Amino acid sequence: MNWPRKDLIGIQDLSKEEIITILEMTTSFKEISKRDIKKVPTLRGKTVVLLFYEPSTRTRLSFEIAAKRLSADTTSLSASGSSFSKGETIMDAALNVMAMAPDCIVIRYPYAGIPQKLARELPCSIINAGDGYHEHPTQALLDMYSMQERFGTIEGLRVVIVGDIFHSRVARSNVYGLRKMGAHVSIVAPKTLLPPGIETWGVDIATDFDSVIPEADVIMMLRVQKERLNQQFFSDEREYSFFYGLNKHRVDMMNSDAAIMHPGPMNRGVEITHDAADSARSLILNQVENGVAVRMTLLYLSLGGSLHVD
Ligand code: CP
Repeated sequence: MNWPRKDLIGIQDLSKEEIITILEMTTSFKEISKRDIKKVPTLRGKTVVLLFYEPSTRTRLSFEIAAKRLSADTTSLSASGSSFSKGETIMDAALNVMAMAPDCIVIRYPYAGIPQKLARELPCSIINAGDGYHEHPTQALLDMYSMQERFGTIEGLRVVIVGDIFHSRVARSNVYGLRKMGAHVSIVAPKTLLPPGIETWGVDIATDFDSVIPEADVIMMLRVQKERLNQQFFSDEREYSFFYGLNKHRVDMMNSDAAIMHPGPMNRGVEITHDAADSARSLILNQVENGVAVRMTLLYLSLGGSLHVD
């Protein structure tokens, strides 16, 4: 049986069964990164192009490492080093990239909808590495994998997502995925950082962080996206940290088994302190490690791999 999808645009498109398949296969791919020789020939002869029109450390590097561990050829382009700065549109750039016959384009773009458009118009696989405020599906899959690895299941977990929900594609993708997988999701944010329509997301909403901490299995802190804060969403960073930051006092309020997550990059001292980020409860570097394995799985599936890993 082959994977039925050419593209991965968002978690909203995936069924629960598809998410389960991806998470199960990720364990097989994770094992490859523990070997002395971290490379298998699975995608030899395939070409993966990374088009990153926004900065990235984790997503870009882990896609590149994932592709290389599967023996695919990779090449990457960022907005600053491309003809984007000369006024070339993303569609023209993508058609030119397509003329060089890639098998997969991984794209990060500052506005929603571009990965869908490329998926409709190009014959190669398109993987969304984050589009505007819309979705960041591979981040949510690695987050869900990290929760499943830590707790054995996602079903019934109480996940609290805290911070800048308004601008967060990570929050949207996680809410879609976690709800499909049977988790209970609460959102904590100042009212100004809640997006319109959040009441339709099927989550609990709180403005008092302290009230939800003791019941949480996972507290996922989100970055305050300073580059997108072109209005006054809160008074200042000190006040934001006081009400919505995860610090030692709040870590001490967590239940004994609860975990801390953050997709990165972190603003240490704003949404999370050193005590919290570096505590024994933190899964933050596990998330990064699992990002490689999840992206190996997705490249493998998108590039025609069967649902059985040899
Ligand atoms: N989590 C995440 O998307 O990180 P990068 O922006 O570094 O890729």
